[in-house]
Amino acid sequence: MANQSKIRLGICGWGNVATAVYSALSANRGELLKKYNLEIVCIGARRDNPNIKIPSNIKVHRNIFDVLEDDIDIVIELIGGVDVAFQLLSKAFERRINVVTANKAVLFEHGNKLFKAALDKNLSIYFESSVCAGTPIIKLLKTDLAANRISKISGMLNGTTNYILTKMEKGQSYASALSEAQQLGYAEADPKLDVGGIDAAHKIGILASLAFQCPLPLKKFFIEGIESIKKEDFDFAREQGYTIKHLAVAEKQKNKEILVRSHPVLLPFNSNLGSLKGVRNGIEVRTNLIGEVHLAGSGAGKESTASGVISDLIHFSKHRGMQEDFYTSNKFKMAKFSTQSFKYYFSIEAEDKPGTAAKLTSQFAKHQVGIDVLIQKESKKNCTARLIIITDLAEEKIINKLKNNLEKLSLTSDVRFIRIEI
Ligand code: HSE
Repeated sequence: MANQSKIRLGICGWGNVATAVYSALSANRGELLKKYNLEIVCIGARRDNPNIKIPSNIKVHRNIFDVLEDDIDIVIELIGGVDVAFQLLSKAFERRINVVTANKAVLFEHGNKLFKAALDKNLSIYFESSVCAGTPIIKLLKTDLAANRISKISGMLNGTTNYILTKMEKGQSYASALSEAQQLGYAEADPKLDVGGIDAAHKIGILASLAFQCPLPLKKFFIEGIESIKKEDFDFAREQGYTIKHLAVAEKQKNKEILVRSHPVLLPFNSNLGSLKGVRNGIEVRTNLIGEVHLAGSGAGKESTASGVISDLIHFSKHRGMQEDFYTSNKFKMAKFSTQSFKYYFSIEAEDKPGTAAKLTSQFAKHQVGIDVLIQKESKKNCTARLIIITDLAEEKIINKLKNNLEKLSLTSDVRFIRIEI
């Protein structure tokens, strides 16, 4: 390690999050820098950021890899993406530099290799803001809940999708809500990662690896986005006491297999997670010693992310030299999604003529799927009706067969379902 008295920092990236980290650290004449013995030595900025001028006492490198050539104790990686970030972090460990990163994609894909590299060199890798930005779930799992056996983690882990779904619930279109989320700096550079459920999948993968000690990356789990949800689904869901959210779940099943999934769900409207609006993220952790732990906070945006990054720096400052306990070689088995059971919300658009409801419900009977609620709505389109069906518990693979068979009927024009989380 370099200078023991000051912790010397190099920041890689100079976008929204990096400038927010810099601003928070420098606020009040550098109160946090002084209190925690930190010094910003250099910044790797491919280009200037018109919002913040870098003071002359901080070196600027246009090649971010040059940050690692400086005499620094920690590199703060805020460039995002997978391949270059992986090279940068691997190189940091080679050069005996500790890492703080907000990058969930690189952790999900290469976490195991990075954790192992840190362990081998007796270095630290911190990543609080990789999941839920500054809302503190990583250190909570690693330390405060360490005495517990965790059986399930459920979370709304993507601020952008919660923002979009909240706006759609109020009647706004999907496209304009997404554009707002992008302007507010919540969305990924490629928003498909958000709306396609992949960002939440990366995050639940990281949490599953901490909670169940399974090495990353986790493969073969179910991922679905919010792209096909329609505004009217919120009205139908609301009539039955539900709202629609994007949920990511990691769960240890009775047979010890790990089930991981990331997809939209109907949730009771007034539940803890169901009532979280906008960019807020929420997590429920089921533990054996303290029951269910609930946590909520802003899950995206530069200030929240900066809060998580700085919490890592403070942790390093207070406990430096402490070795992390990662599980890089544990064996585990992933549970199959197709054999899981849910209740389902179906929305079926079909010809509005006598016998339609009977033909559709007979398909449910044929697949032995019980119907709990059946409502028929007049559709705005000519000569069609919308049937809203809530099923009893049924197996995922049966429901997919049922959907295929409903779609094959000449009288149906749109068949969709959303799982209900109970
Ligand atoms: N795009 C992410 C989100 C940012 O919307 O949650 C925080 O990881």
